[in-house]
Order: sequence, then C-alpha cells, then structure tokens
Amino acid sequence: MSNQHRRAAFLHEMGLGPIWSQRGTAASQADGAVKDVVVTDIRAMQTTAIADTRPAWVEQVSAAAVPMHAPVTLAASEVTTTSFADIAQMDWAQLKSVVASCTQCGLCKSRTQTVFGVGDQKAKWLFVGEGPGRNEDFQGEPFVGPAGKLLDNMFGAMGLKRGENTYIANIVKCRPTDASKRDRPPAAEEAAACMSYLERQIALIKPTVIVALGKTAAISLLKLDPATPVGKLRGTVHRYADLPLIVTYHPAYLLRNLKDKSKAWADLCLAMQTYADTPSA
Ligand code: URA
Repeated sequence: MSNQHRRAAFLHEMGLGPIWSQRGTAASQADGAVKDVVVTDIRAMQTTAIADTRPAWVEQVSAAAVPMHAPVTLAASEVTTTSFADIAQMDWAQLKSVVASCTQCGLCKSRTQTVFGVGDQKAKWLFVGEGPGRNEDFQGEPFVGPAGKLLDNMFGAMGLKRGENTYIANIVKCRPTDASKRDRPPAAEEAAACMSYLERQIALIKPTVIVALGKTAAISLLKLDPATPVGKLRGTVHRYADLPLIVTYHPAYLLRNLKDKSKAWADLCLAMQTYADTPSA
C-alpha cells in the first residue's frame, strides 16, 4: 500500500476521507486501485482545511473535559514529596522510578499502576492527554482504549506512528475515578501535583511541537482559566516554554462529537505546518 493510500485509509477511519480527496491525479491513475487520492502537500491541506473548517467560536466542550472535581485527599502522613528542584534534575530512569512510587496526591490510592508515557524519548512530536482511563490503568500505557485507536488513526493521517518520532504523555499519571469508579478528569490540585513530572519529560524529550489533546491538557500546560473553552484555543500557535503548542479536541470527545473531526484535522494540519516551519524540525 502506498503512503498516499495509507493516509487515505487513516483519514477515512477519522471520518474525513471524502473531505480531503482530490480526483484523478496521475499518481492515483498509475497506482490503479484508488480513484480518489488524498492530497499529500501539507501546505495545500492546511490551507484547505482551515478555510473549510474555521471554528464558529461556539464550541461544545464535553462536561467530561471540565476539571471541576474534588481531589481525593491524602492524610499528611501518606504524602511523600519529591521537590520540584530534584525532579527537574532527573534522568529518564530516575523519573520513571519516582513516578512509579508517587504518592503526591490521592490518585495513588486507587491506581492499578502509574501510566508514565510511551514513545520515542527523542520524539519531535509530543501529544499530551488528560489522564489514564480504565484501559490505561490496567495496561500501563496511555491511549490504549477506543480514544487511543482514534489517536493512532490521527497519527496515521499525519504520516506519524505511535512510538516513532512521537511521544504520548498525560497531565496526570494515575487514573482519576469518581465515587462510582468511572473515569473523570483530574482535579486542578491533582494536575498541579503531577505537573513537574510532565515538565521534566518535556525538558528531556525537547519536542519540536506539542499537541494538547483536549481542555485539561491545554489549560494545565498553558496555565489558563479552567473556564476557557477549547474552541477559543484552537487555530492559534501557543507557546509552552518557548515550544509551539497546538490545541485540539480530545479523541474521546471526538468519538462522541463526530462532526468536530474535521476541526481536529484542521488543528493537526496547523500542527504539521508549524512543525514544517520550525527550523529545528
Ligand atoms: N484519555 C487520556 O487523556 N489519556 C489516556 O491515556 C487515555 C484516555
């Protein structure tokens, strides 16, 4: 399967195939199998994407994406703290070890295991989600459930692959659950307690572009008012510690709001354009 066809297949999986197809190029005719091929020129894709899918600035943000939850509290005797300064000096092995035994917040009480992050430690692309869900808590890897399948398809559409020049991390390393043991977004306190681990991961990876997947990732990394809608953050190249950061919808939100997949694709096109424009890429 050619790269063009592979990308077409991923876009189809994202529900975007027909929007991004171009009829009858020489390449497609020579290849035979597919009549409509996806445009591979990223600049052309971005221009078309953004022109076609400009957000209306009235975004539906899922209730599940709003971190308005009470943290699970730990008694002072149960908290072990590692100073921010110490974390900021750690190498990968030290960081993994300290995360695996972390008790900085109450999420440690109910976790099966911590979910550190996965991918190429020298990746140019960093994707940041919210926090592990049930599947991730069980398997110890981010985005392994249905949202992860969509994320993998988003990678494919971008010509990327999990583990190859990509790193996936979350704002919190332990699964947040509500009283009924259902997944919930992390509380602000839980996100803050975990943030120095992600900061150190970012410093070690030195990515070229960061993509914030959803509201929790965006407001935590950009230190914004939690009431800020994702729709207000899309379409702009933000900065996290001088690195370009693009905000898009969380894959789980996209699974519930299929019509917003085209907006997410426009965001990914902006991210690809930003990557292409960055001298260190
Ligand atoms: N949602 C996230 O934000 N992160 C995961 O790892 C899984 C689901």
